[in-house]
Amino acid sequence: MSEQTRASFGGKLSAILVSAGSAIGLGSIWRFPYMAGENGGAAFLLVYLLCVFVVGIPVMLGEFAVGRATKLNAVGGFRSLSRPWRWLGYNGVLGALLISGYYYIVAGWSLEYMVSSFSGLYSSGIPFSEQFTAFQASPRQAIYTIVFILLTHLIIIRGVEKGIEKASKVMMPALFIILIIMAVRVAFMPGAVEGYRFFLNPNFKEAFSANTIFTAIGQAFFSLSVGMGCMVTYASYFKKNNNLTNTSLSVALLTLLVAVLAGLVIFPAVFSAGLEPTEGASLIFNTLPEIFKDMPLASLWSATFFLLLTLASLTSTISFHEVLTAYFAEEHKLSRKRATYITSALSIALCMLSLFWVFDIDFAGLKLENTSCFDLFDYVTANILMPLGGLLTCIFVVWWMKPDFLRNEITNYGELKGRAYPLLRFTLRYITPLLIIYIFIKNIGLM
Ligand code: PHE
Repeated sequence: MSEQTRASFGGKLSAILVSAGSAIGLGSIWRFPYMAGENGGAAFLLVYLLCVFVVGIPVMLGEFAVGRATKLNAVGGFRSLSRPWRWLGYNGVLGALLISGYYYIVAGWSLEYMVSSFSGLYSSGIPFSEQFTAFQASPRQAIYTIVFILLTHLIIIRGVEKGIEKASKVMMPALFIILIIMAVRVAFMPGAVEGYRFFLNPNFKEAFSANTIFTAIGQAFFSLSVGMGCMVTYASYFKKNNNLTNTSLSVALLTLLVAVLAGLVIFPAVFSAGLEPTEGASLIFNTLPEIFKDMPLASLWSATFFLLLTLASLTSTISFHEVLTAYFAEEHKLSRKRATYITSALSIALCMLSLFWVFDIDFAGLKLENTSCFDLFDYVTANILMPLGGLLTCIFVVWWMKPDFLRNEITNYGELKGRAYPLLRFTLRYITPLLIIYIFIKNIGLM
């Protein structure tokens, strides 16, 4: 595609908005609390923060550099710099495909909660956890999943610039505001203190178990949308004068802020309502209604929150849909429209697989009974494909490419001072890759 016909995002702020739109979503508001709940709360938060700075931000900058330098999709970007490295792009495309296979389902839950806020969630008197289980057993779950895929499809088909920028500009400030209101509200719930203790007061004995670090690195990759070509694809639409360092720092800080706010909302409510922080994927859907139920205008607050969560999820689904759409369009020379249809059809197929196929795994020490592609896709992307993509991105950007490559992108060919460059290069060369390798080895049980 020529420079003229390829889309580009408006200006500096747009680059931050769209990238933060991709990053902020179910990862920070749904996945982060449930991972933290299962992995010791405050200990997890601490390790997660560390991973964002040591792993997430550097890798994001590496991806930005590749995307903006090449102005191509994930596969094309790496390939145009060095042919064998196209496989790193394929790793991203596979990651985007597998995320599509379950993310829409959870996004659909949010959509359903938005609607049912007005139709029974609060008025039926049935315990929230029972309502959630009933919803999962009904065909509505599949319908909402498909509706969500179609929504994403519609936005993508209108083109990246219009849809994504607009959605992010409105949604993000609103999301912050409602999270802050909710955080203030839960502080007054009885027993909330227990929740703050769980989330903010680390127990160092648990803090550094290999599994906590493994899960936290996965969460850092997932929540920042790095390690799978998403930021390569988005940066391919950035302008030449965009300050990549500032963009990545802003995106990471905004994402962190949302995740921490989500924790400050969920955990006090969990303990106040006598629920368990370890309950897994259903955690926020069973907990949040507890916050709203005694508020005046409960349905309205609840619907507003789930509307914002739906929008936040939408700006994320758009981003991995775009990884696949750009790949199909540019690598297989299809029209964008065709590429969009193929991506949406694949997403529907994979989500249906996740919803309707249950199986057992007993393979290489991994024993899971009654599991589904939902869990498998989540585990494989966040804990394997994305860290692997991140590791290879480090090696590519600072070991394989000449030093000029990263320096030029970080300093915009000498226009910016690039004070962070030496630190970034050092981190990308040694710290990030060694940490990922260490955690991989440790987790396969070789050490
Ligand atoms: N970061 C997104 C979220 O937290 C999920 C995502 C992962 C989006 C990878 C794109 C690529 O919801």
